[in-house]
Amino acid sequence: MTATSTVKVPLTERSYEITIQAGLLERLGRQLKRYGVQGKVGVVTDRHVARHYLKSSLKEIKKQGIDSVPIIVAPGERSKTLKTVEQILDVLARHRFERSSMLLALGGGVVGDMAGFAASIYQRGIPYIQVPTTLVAQVDSSVGGKTGVDHRLGKNLIGSFYQPCAVWIDPLTLHTLPARELVAGLAEVIKYGIIADESFFAYLQRHMSELRRQSPGIVATVVKRSCEIKAEVVAADERESDRRRILNYGHTIGHALEALGGYKSFVHGEAVGIGLVQEAELACFQGICSRTVVEEIRRTVNEAGLSDRMPRWTSQKIWKAMLHDKKVSGGRVVGVWPERIGQVRIGPIEKYVFEQWYSGARASPHGHA
Ligand SMILES: NC(=O)c1ccc[n+]([C@@H]2O[C@H](COP(=O)([O-])OP(=O)(O)OC[C@H]3O[C@@H](n4cnc5c(N)ncnc54)[C@H](O)[C@@H]3O)[C@@H](O)[C@H]2O)c1
Ligand SMILES: [Zn+2]
Repeated sequence: MTATSTVKVPLTERSYEITIQAGLLERLGRQLKRYGVQGKVGVVTDRHVARHYLKSSLKEIKKQGIDSVPIIVAPGERSKTLKTVEQILDVLARHRFERSSMLLALGGGVVGDMAGFAASIYQRGIPYIQVPTTLVAQVDSSVGGKTGVDHRLGKNLIGSFYQPCAVWIDPLTLHTLPARELVAGLAEVIKYGIIADESFFAYLQRHMSELRRQSPGIVATVVKRSCEIKAEVVAADERESDRRRILNYGHTIGHALEALGGYKSFVHGEAVGIGLVQEAELACFQGICSRTVVEEIRRTVNEAGLSDRMPRWTSQKIWKAMLHDKKVSGGRVVGVWPERIGQVRIGPIEKYVFEQWYSGARASPHGHA
């Protein structure tokens, strides 16, 4: 019998369960049957994921006598648009999907965000299940119910809060993931240790090389603990007024770097990796944490295969990009600052403080490239 673990996401209106099980994808049909699916299932996926998993998944679903419709979108962030969502909606309408029908998001965060959004607006909402196939999606985007697409004026500008009715994770799908994407996901994993769990952070430090080699027990443990932390934060604050902000650690600078790189220079997690270290540097500069904390974070980020180096942009450019992020309050940048590993606090930062730090950091041995 395969080891299965579950994590509950306790939300008042729509609680759901995350199931983590190696080989789950091979049993997708049985899993759907057991879940009690009634109507049609639309399997939304992208071309890359389809190449590895679609045929076998559809076969498995058919075997259980469930009607399915594949919906294949172009891979990558550039297809995360309203236009692609419209294509998904077209298929649903053409195949006469109803309220009792179901969407399955089989893929990374791009597929999950779009399928969830399409599910939230088609006939004012049909159920959907996340079957995440990237590390980012397994530990982050599939949990929490944020769905949406990009607009040419901003990333994730259009969307809704819409919880899935279940999240089914098969860690074996990570075997086909390009190494760069796996490493990018590790940035989010390390983030969870820093914001909420010192012993998890220590576990990651001890097992980083096995994790990168995808040692099965280690991956399952890490995915599970990450989901638990995200679920706990999301349950405490479903609408991002306060506590949910801690999930943004590493993302204030991370998002700025992504934007300045035109969403081409970095994969999201690579920018976040730099953000984790540089925001700790900024916290240290503000007297919020010790240098030891910064160096622990830097070492772990590097061992994950991620860079900690700030690219050469001027402080004005970076500040402006940070202000642009939609998570600013009233023109101020609000950051998440580590006090120690496992504990962070939220607080605003003034432009002059950022500039002082940035000009100093460029001259220091810990500074930027
Ligand atoms: N909703 C949220 O709370 C939330 C949180 C974090 C990120 N996101 C969003 O998630 C997106 C990033 O997600 P991502 O990193 O998963 O990117 P992605 O979905 O683009 O996947 C990365 C690449 O890996 C491929 N791929 C996926 N699974 C594979 C597999 N098992 N084998 C081989 N190739 C595979 C994809 O086709 C793609 O080319 C961004 O749009 C981001 O905004 C959302
Ligand atoms: Zn992120």
